[in-house]
Amino acid sequence: MTTGNRKLDHIRICLEKEVEGRSKPFNDLAFVHRTLPGIDADEIDTSCRFLGKDLAMPLMISGMTGGHPDTKDINVNLALAAQEVGVAMGVGSQRAALESAEVEETFSAVRDAAPKIPIIGNIGAVQLKRGGPEVIDHLAEMIDADAIAVHLNFLQESIQPEGETEARGAIEAIRSATDGRVPIIAKETGAGISREDARALIDAGVKIIDVGGLGGTSWSGVEAYRAEERGDGESTTMGRLFWDWGVRTPVSVVECAALGAEVISSGGVRSGIDMAKSIALGASLAGAALPFLAPATKGPLQVAEALRIYERAFRTTMFLTASKNIMDLRSAPVIVLGRTREVLEQRGFDTRKFSIYREMSK
Ligand SMILES: Cc1cc2nc3c(=O)[nH]c(=O)nc-3n(C[C@H](O)[C@H](O)[C@H](O)COP(=O)(O)O)c2cc1C
Repeated sequence: MTTGNRKLDHIRICLEKEVEGRSKPFNDLAFVHRTLPGIDADEIDTSCRFLGKDLAMPLMISGMTGGHPDTKDINVNLALAAQEVGVAMGVGSQRAALESAEVEETFSAVRDAAPKIPIIGNIGAVQLKRGGPEVIDHLAEMIDADAIAVHLNFLQESIQPEGETEARGAIEAIRSATDGRVPIIAKETGAGISREDARALIDAGVKIIDVGGLGGTSWSGVEAYRAEERGDGESTTMGRLFWDWGVRTPVSVVECAALGAEVISSGGVRSGIDMAKSIALGASLAGAALPFLAPATKGPLQVAEALRIYERAFRTTMFLTASKNIMDLRSAPVIVLGRTREVLEQRGFDTRKFSIYREMSK
C-alpha cells in the first residue's frame, strides 16, 4: 500500500469510528474559580508569539494530512481558517512527497492559503534517519515552513504489520538536524513524551517538544480498526491492547516543561478550557487535530467556527481565573486530581505547586 493510500485510510477511520482514548486526563484538572476577577472581559489579551510570529491565541491545528490528491482540500480548508483566526498549523507527514513529487502540491497549498501564520512541516524520525539532515531543508522549502516536526510514533508502527520499528539511531538523526535552517520540533502522536526522553531530546539540541500525549486520538486504536477491516485478528488484538498506552498529556507537559523545553500540549485538547489548563501547567501552546478534521471536510468556515469556539472558551476561562494575559494564566492555580495527580506524584512531582495560591499581579 502506498503512503498516500494509507493516509486516506487513516482519515476515513478517524471520521467514521470512535478513535479516542478512554482516559480523559484533562478532566483531572480544575481551575480555582474567581468570582471577583477584577478585570473586564474586554481587557483580556489572548495573543502570544510562536516561532517569531503573532498568534491570536496559543493554539495550533496539529499536523494531519497531505500526500494524496484527495487531501489537498482538507489542508487548504484548515489553512484558510487558521490564517483567518490567527492560529498556527502543522501539515501531516511529508513522506509521500519525498516518494513522489506530484503530491508536493497537497502540502505547499497550505502556505499559499496561509501566508502569515507559522506553518510546521512533518516527517518521521525513521525517514529522517534514512534521508539525512538535508531532508529537513528540502521539506521546509517545499512549504516555506517555520519549523519541522519530527514525529516519533513507535507505538503505531508496532501495531502496523508494515510498521517501521528501527528506533536505533533516531536520537542521533534528530541531533544531526538541529542546526539546520529551521527549528526542529520533537513530536509524539498520542503516546506522550516522558521526562527521560525529553532529557535526551534537549541534550540533542531540541528546544520545542510537542508532547502528543495520551488522552486524544489513539493511533493504536486506528490501527486496530484497519487490522479488523483486513481480517488481521492478531494486529486487531494488539491495537486494542495498547489503545490506552502512553504518558497522559498533562503529565507529559509537566515532565517536559520541568526541563525547560518550550512545550506544545496536544493529545485530547478538546476545548478552550483544556487549552488554558495546558498553559497553566507550563505549555506555551496547545494543539489539537481530530476536532478539526470533520469541519475541514466541509469548508474553511466550519473550521473557523470550531476554532472560534475554542477561542471563546479560552477567553472565558481566562476571565474566570482573573488572567488578563497569557503570563497571568501561567500562574493561575490549577488543582490536579485523580490518576493524573497519582502519576505525577509517583514520578516525583509535587502537584500542590500548581494548586496553591500563587501571588498574581492583580
Ligand atoms: C487524521 C489524522 C492524521 C494524522 N497524521 C499525522 C501525521 O502525518 N504526522 C504526525 O506527526 N501526526 C499526525 N497525526 C497526529 C496529530 O498530529 C496529533 O498528534 C494526535 O492526533 C493527537 O491530537 P488529537 O487528540 O487532538 O487528535 C494525525 C492525526 C489525525 C487525526
